[in-house]
Amino acid sequence: MNKRKQLYEGKAKIIFEGPEPGTLVQYFKDDATAFNAQKKATIAGKGVLNNRISAHIMTKLEGIGVPTHFLKSLNMREQLVRQVEIIPIELVVRNIAAGSLVKRLGIKEGTILPQPIVEFYYKKDELGDPMVSDHHIVTLGWADPYELEEIVGQAYRVNDYLNGLFSGIGLTLVDFKLEFGRLWGPYDELYIILADEVSPDNCRLWDAKTGEKLDKDRFRQDLGDLVEGYQEIAKRLGLVPDTGIVREGNIDEKAMAGLTLIENELAKDGTRLRSVRKIPPSKPYKV
Ligand SMILES: Nc1ncnc2c1ncn2[C@@H]1O[C@H](COP(=O)(O)OP(=O)(O)OP(=O)(O)O)[C@@H](O)[C@H]1O
Ligand SMILES: [Mg+2]
Repeated sequence: MNKRKQLYEGKAKIIFEGPEPGTLVQYFKDDATAFNAQKKATIAGKGVLNNRISAHIMTKLEGIGVPTHFLKSLNMREQLVRQVEIIPIELVVRNIAAGSLVKRLGIKEGTILPQPIVEFYYKKDELGDPMVSDHHIVTLGWADPYELEEIVGQAYRVNDYLNGLFSGIGLTLVDFKLEFGRLWGPYDELYIILADEVSPDNCRLWDAKTGEKLDKDRFRQDLGDLVEGYQEIAKRLGLVPDTGIVREGNIDEKAMAGLTLIENELAKDGTRLRSVRKIPPSKPYKV
């Protein structure tokens, strides 16, 4: 049925050509991977939940002025996004010590960091996405100092917003990963926009009261049903009914059919692509 041209198949998503130039369709798979794809599984419902959670969060971020690639949900597993040139850097923002920070630096898991830490990783699967510094990024030409300043500034805004969003629903945002991309406007002006996904695959979220892990660490550390955790996050965000859409590994098609699709109202507005706000960098990023 699907005649769209497939451009890329990643670990969590498949990217198809979009209906119009400059657009892509992101299909969210049910596949889960961890430890650089050494651990794998298929988990029914994961794709639907991540599609929904990411669409919701991106829409909220657009609403506070963070330009994102999200245009609209097409169906339960697919969303329409703006095509960007992905900057080959993953930004990790940490509020609380967990994961590799604990392993590498011997800090106790759960330690509240006095201020957020931003880390950069070079997107290169063959090398296992190594950690790099701003000097590597600028010197090796993955992003220029102006782009880097913009990206880091946006990452802090996203962090501030998400901390509030999640704490309001009894969740602690421990850390998360972001990807940004470049988009050129009609006058060749450059816009930096948030791309990829913001979902429990890329965020560590703990229940604020019990400390229960509701994110992908459930899968990484065999802590319990992954989809139950994701579904709890979606429920608290008001994105699925309290009864849920996945039960005992099966998707409740009827409950799913009752869900509305999410649209980025700011991106609608007649034109196919909303011209993205450009913030000229105030000064070069310090290196
Ligand atoms: N708006 C966009 N335009 C172009 N590419 C995008 C956009 N949003 C995300 N991507 C890219 O599409 C792919 C999404 O697939 P997926 O997340 O499954 O990849 P992955 O297996 O994690 O691999 P990667 O190491 O490339 O991220 C990623 O490579 C991501 O960088
Ligand atoms: Mg990815």
